[in-house]
Amino acid sequence: MNRTSKITKSLMPYFAFIIYILVSFSESYYSADFNPTDTKVGKSVYERYCQGCHGEYGKGDGKYARDMNPKPRDFTSGMFKWTSSPAGSMPTDRDLILTISEGVHGTSMPPWAPLKESERRDVIAYIKTFSDRFNKKPFFPETFIYPPPPNTPELIQYGNSIYHKTGCDRCHGITGRGDGINANSLMDDWNNPISPTNFYLGIFKTGKENWKIYRTIANGLGGTPMPSSLYQLEPNEIWALVYFIRSLKP
Ligand code: HEC
Ligand code: HEC
Repeated sequence: MNRTSKITKSLMPYFAFIIYILVSFSESYYSADFNPTDTKVGKSVYERYCQGCHGEYGKGDGKYARDMNPKPRDFTSGMFKWTSSPAGSMPTDRDLILTISEGVHGTSMPPWAPLKESERRDVIAYIKTFSDRFNKKPFFPETFIYPPPPNTPELIQYGNSIYHKTGCDRCHGITGRGDGINANSLMDDWNNPISPTNFYLGIFKTGKENWKIYRTIANGLGGTPMPSSLYQLEPNEIWALVYFIRSLKP
């Protein structure tokens, strides 16, 4: 065996690992609802990794929660921020596994990709036992994310005008720094003050992929004052807003 193939061979496990990570992250890998069932394993995963923040009974009141901002989610409220359907809808299992695997950027919610996928599924099954809302239909249909148009200076400019016309500036501020006229008086559904995002920081809670920002603008964020624009704006206008907001980080 020559030197190069020896090196290649010794790197094999790493390649395999990277491919494993890529596969487990690709969204198409998860179907919308996968019927996880093992709440017993889920409970032990929860007690080990989640309870310290989300609390023994899922009320978001774990021992580390007190000084956190934002607070860990209160699962008994059955209200979630990142959903495939408009705000107030329940998340699909795919929504939950994405959020749990990737974490919530800029908050204390860590990414849980290091857990086995089966453990993530089981802990989702367990989280669902905290709220009856998971048994209730109907769901709103999932919002279709239209394919992105090319990102051009004209479209960004158009996004700028829609941003002001639609009133995003009332909360996010005239220049997008999170300092709009309503910014200081906003509360979330759990009675905690909440601040509109400052787009100059370029931090997006569920990551920077454009489709996720599209999803947030279209669906809004459950339990927060961030409204859904689905029935107010055309897909092209939502894409213009995505590009405009992304252009603000210096
Ligand atoms: C160190 C604290 C901490 C730990 C540990 C933690 N979380 Fe969280 N979690 C948070 C915080 C804070 C939020 C709220 C983020 C926000 O609203 O912006 C959150 C939010 C969530 C949400 C809500 C997503 C949505 O759409 O609203 C889910 C689901 C969740 N966590 C699951 C888990 C699971 C499962 C575990 C354990 C494997 C876990 N968390 C462990 C702090 C934590
Ligand atoms: C009534 C106040 C209000 C209005 C109006 C509003 N937002 Fe928000 N928005 C918020 C708040 C509060 C948050 C933060 C939610 C959180 O951190 O959980 C937010 C979050 C966001 C996020 C998510 C950032 C992230 O971390 O992923 C985006 C994107 C966004 N807003 C875009 C818009 C756009 C575009 C408009 C206009 C169509 C708009 N918002 C109108 C209050 C508002």
